This record gives sequence, C-alpha cells and structure tokens, in this order.
Amino acid sequence: MTTKKKYTLVTGASNGIGRAIAENCASRGFNVLLVALPEPKLNEVTAALKEKYPNQEFHSFGTNLMEEGSPKLVFDWCQNNGFEIDILVNNAGLGNAGAFLSKPSEFYFGQMQLNMVALVMLTYHFLPGLQKFNKGYILNVGSMASFYDIPYKGIYAASKQFVRSFSSSLRYELKDSSVKISLLCPAAVLTNPDVIIRDREMGLASKLTQQTPEQVAEYAMSRLFKGKAVSIPGVVPKFYKGLGYILPQRMQLRMLANAFIKQSR
Ligand SMILES: NC(=O)c1ccc[n+]([C@@H]2O[C@H](COP(=O)([O-])OP(=O)(O)OC[C@H]3O[C@@H](n4cnc5c(N)ncnc54)[C@H](OP(=O)(O)O)[C@@H]3O)[C@@H](O)[C@H]2O)c1
Repeated sequence: MTTKKKYTLVTGASNGIGRAIAENCASRGFNVLLVALPEPKLNEVTAALKEKYPNQEFHSFGTNLMEEGSPKLVFDWCQNNGFEIDILVNNAGLGNAGAFLSKPSEFYFGQMQLNMVALVMLTYHFLPGLQKFNKGYILNVGSMASFYDIPYKGIYAASKQFVRSFSSSLRYELKDSSVKISLLCPAAVLTNPDVIIRDREMGLASKLTQQTPEQVAEYAMSRLFKGKAVSIPGVVPKFYKGLGYILPQRMQLRMLANAFIKQSR
C-alpha cells in the first residue's frame, strides 16, 4: 500500500458538473487535479481553488481529450509529477441535438472519442495505481439518456449507454478489490449555453428534472463514497427511469422523438 500524498483527478473540471465536483472535493479537503481543454478558464478555476483552500494542492492540465493520445498525456503528466490518484472522475463529455445527418461526421467522431474512448483509456491507465490504495474510487458521468434510445440525440444516448454498460461490468470485475466504481446519471443541469437552449425547448418535462451542478456534485460524491453503483439525482428523473421499464419500446421512441425533435429546430 502506498503512503504518498493522494489526489482526485477530475476531467472537464473547468465548467459545469466537473467544476462543481472539483469544488466539492476541495471542500472535503482533497487535493485536486483539474483536466479540461487548454483554455484560460481552466487556470482561473484552479487559481480560485488555490486561493480558497491554501493548504491543499490544485494543479491543472489542459488537453483535448478527443485526441487519441490525450489520456496517456494526462497519465504521463501525473507520473512525471508524482501525483498518485485515488479518485478518478471521468466527467468530460459532449451532448448534441438534431437529426443524425445534421452534423458533420467529424463532430460525431470527436463526441465518441470524448464520451467513450477517453473515459476507457483514462480508466485503463489509472486503475493499477488506484488499486494500490486501501480505497480507490472511479466516478463515471453518464446521463439519464443512458437508459433510453433517443431519436434526434442518438449518438449521445448510445455513448452514455456504453458508459453505463462499461461501468456496470467493470464494477463487477472489481467487486472483490479495493476500487469502487459508481455511475452518475444526471437529468437536466443548466451548465452551458447549449444545454440552456436545449432545456428551454424541452419545456416542463425537462424543467421538472432540473438540478444545480452543486446539488449533483454533492449527491454523486456522497453516493460514490457509500459504494453505490448508480446515482440518479432528483425524484422526477428516478420516476422517468421507472417509466422506461413500463412503457412499450415503440411508445418510448415516439414520446422521446416528439420531445427531442424540439431541440433540433
Ligand atoms: N448538463 C447536463 O444537463 C447533463 C445531463 C446529463 C449528463 N451530463 C454529462 O455531464 C458531463 C458534464 O457535462 P456539463 O454539462 O457539466 O458540461 P460543460 O458545462 O459543457 O463542461 C464540460 C467540461 O468538459 C471540458 N471539455 C469539453 N470538451 C473537452 C475536450 N475535448 N477535452 C477536454 N475537456 C473537454 C470543458 O472544457 P471547456 O470549459 O474549456 O469547454 C468543461 O470543463 C458530461 O459527460 C455530460 O454528458 C450533463
């Protein structure tokens, strides 16, 4: 077992849910490594945490996780600086709305790289290190979309189904190990301009599920440490998930198509 200083690594930590998770971890006294696109915002968020929690460590690494070698660059950065990770939060992800052919193929390629490939590769690189601790944790950020097939949001929903399946199977493989894996499935969280516009188009059905990034972060982290497999923040989203078991598939597809086609107008 290692006795070195421990760090929590959060991807997509410069905004939204990832930023709220980084702040939540800081408030719990953890050292946090923030990974996101190499934009000034990443440094600003990191500097703000350093100022608020001067006795903890915060470091940032800017990289485009859509690029093939990027997860390994993140791992090498940690290795070169002696950062030992006991909590990995795979949060960075990209949504979309619209008919399948309404986006260039490059968009979907990047979305799939970020939502699935980067998440798997980061898990692959960091898992051996996590296993050296008495307790290690992986939080994968999925989505309520992972419970459905969603016309006009098909690639996103499919990518999150991948995250759900991978999290579940790896959790089972690791059931006798020191590493716990948890899947977070948020509904509507108003984090960026695209999400806000899409949410407005959806109306009441989405509004009823809304949570703040801070609410989602607190719920996710407390459930992660309790060893819960899946976390769905909010009462209404849990009800929506239940509907998925009851309604026939064709009816679900029609209802979801009617709801999500509004986002593509
Ligand atoms: N918001 C929702 O309603 C909602 C609902 C369900 C699930 N989720 C999931 O929750 C996660 C976070 O969503 P969010 O709404 O909080 O996102 P967000 O506000 O758009 O923030 C995304 C974060 O990821 C970073 N990022 C984006 N592309 C990246 C790339 N190619 N490489 C590295 N970092 C990248 C962003 O950096 P920049 O700030 O520099 O762009 C930002 O820090 C995603 O996996 C999303 O699918 C969100």
